[in-house]
Amino acid sequence: MRFVWDDRLKTGNFEVDDQHKQIVALIGRMSAQEKKQSDPMELQKLFDALHLYAHTHFATEQALVYQANLTETSLWFNHQGAHDYYMKRIQEFREDLERKDERALFRIVAFLKYWWVEHICNEDQLLVEVLNDKATHEAAKTEPERSVRVQS
Ligand SMILES: [Fe+2]
Ligand SMILES: [Fe+2]
Repeated sequence: MRFVWDDRLKTGNFEVDDQHKQIVALIGRMSAQEKKQSDPMELQKLFDALHLYAHTHFATEQALVYQANLTETSLWFNHQGAHDYYMKRIQEFREDLERKDERALFRIVAFLKYWWVEHICNEDQLLVEVLNDKATHEAAKTEPERSVRVQS
């Protein structure tokens, strides 16, 4: 089965969803390469590109949490823990690759497919929900102020 974007992965945040789509596309390309049993160098290149992109993506989520002033919450603490775990696993896979472990890339693809779907469908969707709730709450607090201004 091809690994492709599915609406069940949607969080509702345009920027986050757009980045998730790029990530899913990269993993999909890795998965397709794996099935063709093609050049391990190509897989390695895709892996490196995904690693860089994951950094950018985690920074985007962090910036959204900072903007919402939610950094000191258990939600973000746990979420960051999940991102840190991901980076640690990727580092371990890198070490496997350096040891010329030929099966490492195939284990990586299996891990990536599992981790990203689980993380998006659980932690990321919850994070965006909380960010949206916070934004709605903040907007409601300023609402009476606005109507007073409109009346004057
Ligand atoms: Fe994410
Ligand atoms: Fe995340």
